[in-house]
Amino acid sequence: MKKLRVMMLVHWSLVPPEDLRDPKDPRMEKYHTEYDVKTALETLGHEVRILGIHDDIASIRKTVEEWQPHIAFNLLEDFAGVSAFDYYVVSFLEMMRLPYTGCNPRGLLLARDKALSKKILGYHRVNVPDFMVFARGRKIGRLRRPKFPLIVKARMEEGSVGIAQSSYVENEPQLRERVAFIHEKIKDDAIAEQYIEGRELYATILGNIKLEVLPLRELAFNKPEAGAPRMATYKVKWDEKYRERWGVEYQFVRALPNGGAERIERLCKRVYRLLDMSGYGRIDLRLTAAGAIYVLEANPNPGIARDEDCALSAAKAGLDYANFIQRLLNLGLAAHQGQEES
Ligand SMILES: Nc1ncnc2c1ncn2[C@@H]1O[C@H](COP(=O)(O)OP(=O)(O)O)[C@@H](O)[C@H]1O
Ligand SMILES: [Mg+2]
Repeated sequence: MKKLRVMMLVHWSLVPPEDLRDPKDPRMEKYHTEYDVKTALETLGHEVRILGIHDDIASIRKTVEEWQPHIAFNLLEDFAGVSAFDYYVVSFLEMMRLPYTGCNPRGLLLARDKALSKKILGYHRVNVPDFMVFARGRKIGRLRRPKFPLIVKARMEEGSVGIAQSSYVENEPQLRERVAFIHEKIKDDAIAEQYIEGRELYATILGNIKLEVLPLRELAFNKPEAGAPRMATYKVKWDEKYRERWGVEYQFVRALPNGGAERIERLCKRVYRLLDMSGYGRIDLRLTAAGAIYVLEANPNPGIARDEDCALSAAKAGLDYANFIQRLLNLGLAAHQGQEES
């Protein structure tokens, strides 16, 4: 395997400290993704330089010119604090003709927008929840018979930012209140979607042209509160104690009824292609009791820490963590050459 010079791009506050090595170090929680990737790259024998990025694009150019990395390992999820700016950074890498890991700018742009992505998927008859958009700065007019219950989210956010139990709304006053919350507190357009009751599944996909769907994960709600909607709220996603208290668990999918896994696999590959995704991604789905599959959203560049869904699914498919990280490099290099991964 060729040794590469790898320029890691990370959020300015997430450059792992040099002396961070002990897995039990309390700082590990903050830096774990960056630390995991860096360590894996070093284990693979690559040379690594880490660039902490806030709003300075010039430092990327300088490193590219001086050090001539073979590839950028892109862990950025925002630029200057704006998550929707991430695709401009990747566009800049494209313009410098530097290979990079993860999704191309077009895929980032299409998939990030929870309304636009559903329009594209809906056009191609992929099952997505019905939705309405409430643009920020525009008055909420008269509503045309919304079908409750709905879930209200920020149009461009991710990581369940702005999603709590009160995102689930059953009537018009609740809907208006939550839309106003998204406008004022999250400072984004709001999208209100038909609430889909069902099992929550996650499919990780690797690939540019030829795609591989890794073993499915599920967010299981083992002790749900009576009548409470089951959602991956901000607390569910980021608070382990909360998950323990409510019996919420990330696990591998056990059995799926009649050919469910194959149907999901085909569907996820279609979604990935329709949204022009590349590198690696994760599709969030719901499977209803009646067997209908809905696509909730597609995530380009999902979390790849050692203990997160993507890496766990990769491990289950026989790809240990270092090999998983190498695969992401290979895909980045192949995309740049417009070739199939070797
Ligand atoms: N239409 C929906 N029906 C049911 N649950 C939903 C719906 N949309 C979102 N959710 C719940 O909220 C979670 C986060 O929503 P998602 O659109 O994936 O946003 P994020 O980008 O923050 O992950 C989902 O994982 C799911 O549990
Ligand atoms: Mg999601």
